[in-house]
Amino acid sequence: MSRILSGVQPTGTLHIGNYIGAIQQWKKLQQEHEAFFTVVDLHAITVPQEKVNLYQQTLNTAAMYIACGIDPEKATLFVQSEVPAHTELAWILATTTPMGELERMTQFKDKVQKGKPANVGLFTYPILMAADILLYKPEKVPVGDDQQQHVEFARNLAERFNNKFGNVFTVPEIFKPEAGARIMGLDNPENKMSKSASSENNFISLLDTPKTIQKKMKKAVTDSDSTIIFDQKNKPAVTNLLTIFQSITEQSSKEVEAHFAGKGYGDLKTEIADAIITFLKPIQEKYNTLINDPVQLQKILQKGNSHANEIANKTLQEVKRAIGLTKQ
Ligand code: ADP
Ligand code: TRP
Repeated sequence: MSRILSGVQPTGTLHIGNYIGAIQQWKKLQQEHEAFFTVVDLHAITVPQEKVNLYQQTLNTAAMYIACGIDPEKATLFVQSEVPAHTELAWILATTTPMGELERMTQFKDKVQKGKPANVGLFTYPILMAADILLYKPEKVPVGDDQQQHVEFARNLAERFNNKFGNVFTVPEIFKPEAGARIMGLDNPENKMSKSASSENNFISLLDTPKTIQKKMKKAVTDSDSTIIFDQKNKPAVTNLLTIFQSITEQSSKEVEAHFAGKGYGDLKTEIADAIITFLKPIQEKYNTLINDPVQLQKILQKGNSHANEIANKTLQEVKRAIGLTKQ
């Protein structure tokens, strides 16, 4: 059975873009793949985190994976910092990475351009992400569009390593949804929906109440003329709303267009708000149950951590032998 691996940072409540771009794909892929889903807490600390919240955020993120349909009986759920091989491999990979390749990473450049203070960890973040991936030899990495460059970077590291030291790593492919790999902000269809957006009206959190969802949808930006069709170029805002609707109701774009034919923006917004509320209800209920039983969650993670350590250590030993750190 081929493998997949992905992860999200424990830096706040997930939003509907994270669900559509990443977790919805995880849920589908876990059926026919050996799946590894990690909470990447070591990535989270590349920007300052509150000490009192960080571990709780890790548990919350794991609970949200399960609430969204990740099955801990099928998939391995684990915490990045509990598997030391990630940082060890990251160091080894760093010694094979030309500075220029990291300097080209757009996420790092964007953050620095926005005047955020950058530490060395933020700069070398893609190497740690490459280690996260390569240790498990996955064929596919299901993530949203914004992670494309990071996955390509991991592929380059894997290929270079294999060429120089022999075939150790699987060269992974990015796996993106057909629609919804880049959900845009509700308040501005030019920028992607993001937890770190300046306005709350940018995103719908998976824990938003029905009232908040209705309010945010009412404020959502639309386009100038009133037809409701997918048209990325001329109607980016409406296309984004339709993509959200299409993804959570699992319909084709034709079905969605037929559904809204002849209706106005008022109907569009109310119906999408209703669809999101209905979709999130069972997720929120499950999340609340899980979060009230931290012992059970910790058990799931301990089991996952232990399995992840086994696989990761095996690859790390192969790497050490390949480069001559251990007996040949
Ligand atoms: P954010 O930018 O909101 O902080 P993360 O960087 O934590 O999100 O992303 C977690 C996962 O969700 C990644 O796989 C990422 O590609 C995906 N993702 C993030 N934002 C979006 C979006 N707007 N549309 C689709 N996928 C997204
Ligand atoms: N950089 C990813 C993000 O911000 C998170 C991440 C870290 C990741 N390691 C990973 C995603 C490994 C997939 C595989 O969303």
